[in-house]
Amino acid sequence: MTDTVIGHRTTRIDGELKLTGKADYTADHNLTGQAYGYPVPSTIACGTLLGLDLDEARQAPGVIEIVHRGNFPSLQPSDNNPACGPSARLYRSPSTMAEQNKVGEVRLPFEDDGIHYEGQYIALVVADTFEHARAAARLVKAHYEVNEAVPGLFSTDDEGEEDGDEAVSRGDPAGAYESAPVKFDHTYTIAMETHVAMELHASNAYWDGDRLTIYESSQGVVFQRNAMAQIFGIPPEKITVIAHYIGSGFGSKLFMWPHAVITAVAAKMVGRPVKTVLSRQQNFCNAGSRPASRQRIRMAADRDGKLRSIRHDSQNETSFVDAYVDSVGSGTPSAYACDNVSVSQRLVEVNHGTPTAMRGPGEASGSVALEIAMDEMAIELGMDPLELRRKNFTDHDPSANLPWSGNHLRECWDDASRRFGWDQRNPEVGSMRDGHEIIGWGMADATWEAMRSHCRARVELRADGKIQVACGTQDIGTGTYTIVAQTASELTGVPLSRIEVKLGDSTLPAGPLSGGSMATATVLPAVAAAVRDAIDQLKQLAIADGAPFEGKQADALTFTDGALSDGQKTQSFGELLNALQRGMADGEASAAPGDEQDKFSFRSFGAHFVEVRWDPGISRLHVSRVVSTIDIGRAINPLTAKNQVEGAIVMGMGMGMFEQTEYDDNGNIYNNNYADYIVPVHADMPEIDVELLDNPDFNFNEFGARGIGEIGITGMAAAISNAVYHATGKRIRDMPISIPDLLASS
Ligand code: MOS
Repeated sequence: MTDTVIGHRTTRIDGELKLTGKADYTADHNLTGQAYGYPVPSTIACGTLLGLDLDEARQAPGVIEIVHRGNFPSLQPSDNNPACGPSARLYRSPSTMAEQNKVGEVRLPFEDDGIHYEGQYIALVVADTFEHARAAARLVKAHYEVNEAVPGLFSTDDEGEEDGDEAVSRGDPAGAYESAPVKFDHTYTIAMETHVAMELHASNAYWDGDRLTIYESSQGVVFQRNAMAQIFGIPPEKITVIAHYIGSGFGSKLFMWPHAVITAVAAKMVGRPVKTVLSRQQNFCNAGSRPASRQRIRMAADRDGKLRSIRHDSQNETSFVDAYVDSVGSGTPSAYACDNVSVSQRLVEVNHGTPTAMRGPGEASGSVALEIAMDEMAIELGMDPLELRRKNFTDHDPSANLPWSGNHLRECWDDASRRFGWDQRNPEVGSMRDGHEIIGWGMADATWEAMRSHCRARVELRADGKIQVACGTQDIGTGTYTIVAQTASELTGVPLSRIEVKLGDSTLPAGPLSGGSMATATVLPAVAAAVRDAIDQLKQLAIADGAPFEGKQADALTFTDGALSDGQKTQSFGELLNALQRGMADGEASAAPGDEQDKFSFRSFGAHFVEVRWDPGISRLHVSRVVSTIDIGRAINPLTAKNQVEGAIVMGMGMGMFEQTEYDDNGNIYNNNYADYIVPVHADMPEIDVELLDNPDFNFNEFGARGIGEIGITGMAAAISNAVYHATGKRIRDMPISIPDLLASS
């Protein structure tokens, strides 16, 4: 264990498989007798499906079956879900986080004849080829009664004057606001966004008697297995969900969507494997979104900059068939030292597909409003925005009233501001110029709660000298395979080249969702416990009668660099197992959060500093520089960890400047493709300079890691908007920032 692997920049152990096309993504699997499903989407957003005309589609080449409301089996209803609009009257799927069976949308497919959003599935055509299925799907005719759709949040008259359900409150926010000398009341909006992960959602299902196997592009194979067990009324042991490689998900693949259920039913009906790959257009309608949100912030301070009151009231869209709460204000009560804070949240039902978690769910949106508001407060006070934040730093979590497990936000501010050169900033709006361009400098804080769940893992020390680690979590592209291997290598002294990692299969010991930035902190302690258990097994085998270390005490043996030793004799585990004529020594163990959860508040912090350039002559805005410092405890693999933050910064630029899922007046998404849904591309890329501090958080787990996937997006769009204000004097509170916003007279 001399050669430390954890904490070192390690290239992905699955990199070669991915580069050579050998990594098996869901849609890559072609099974014996493979049939292909293609969903038929509704073309209206609201109304009733009166009937389907299937004759022409049935006669199309290669069609095997058409699955629809008329022949769909009755699935398991549940009554344990909160009512939401008309869904209260529907048979719904069970869907809970606690039982690890949460689904993306509780309405079971084809369960009623209501049409609740554009693209809702009304049938699935199964054919002998993908092309035949798609061609036939276009021949299905639907008859509707069309009702007027409830449009998106920003098309409603409701301006959000009314407060929502009070979620959190401390002190006297209203009274403190009234009596404070400096205050404002502003509204901020975030457009609906779609995840647009590179890999399309896909399912490939087959039945062997009453056993179901389904390949799925999933961020949670165990969740999907549990959900399917409930829906089909069969034991979880009879279901296998496989997701070996995933082309990301950003949250859209956390919870199973209806296409998976329909595909599994179709496979049963036709007695063959059925593969359904959603089109990019269907990915926009049926697999979640970051819901549009509107936020009102009322903020007040004393003249010296001490915050007196923050009220953060938000609304987010949800569908009529599930109640998705985007916890927009969830970070606000913990963000700053302020005695009087309240946060509320309200849902608005619209005829859109059900939203879901999208990278930094809630706080990515909430931080836009809060961190722009902080900039506005700094302007009101004539203070530097970083100084205002320093003034309101909180050395404990004022929401939970607990000490931080570790908070290095001040070091993040110091490091990032120094590297950015913030002290060179002239605060006067529009004062910093370079040729045609006006330069704007802005900053914002980043923050994300550190979560941890329970997990099992298995480790096999094998006679061939290799170690296999197995866990029913998955790697969505973030580097989980690699950090699991690093952990096993660190604890055994065996090089990475002799460590094999198995993930993405629900039959493996149950692991967590790849979500909430919690996989690292959840999985690694279980892997470590399983490694120790396997080494203990090895020792027991080694001291048995006739074994090489017969007669020794197990705890007198040491395990170093893959070998057991009693101080005189040393034998590698491979040699030892061969001598014993055994294939392996194995261990399996669990790890879960403990009472540290009651003693500390676990949250990560960071800071973004952004430079924008505005060329008024050609109305061009671009981000030219991003400097960020983030503290996430210890980075297990600084290479992939930084990569996560850089990717999240790009996504934050998308939120701030480009991304917006757009609906026409009939409730149809019209930019449902990569050409029209604008994300940042290479030409938009600034220099991105990320540093991770290294302050292991051993209060959280033995590896000191708090997770990294989401924090980088928080605050990012706000930092851009703040920089835009500094350049142009235009205070943009609606994301994404548009060129017309910048041209409008303020
Ligand atoms: Mo993340 S939105 O939990 O995939």
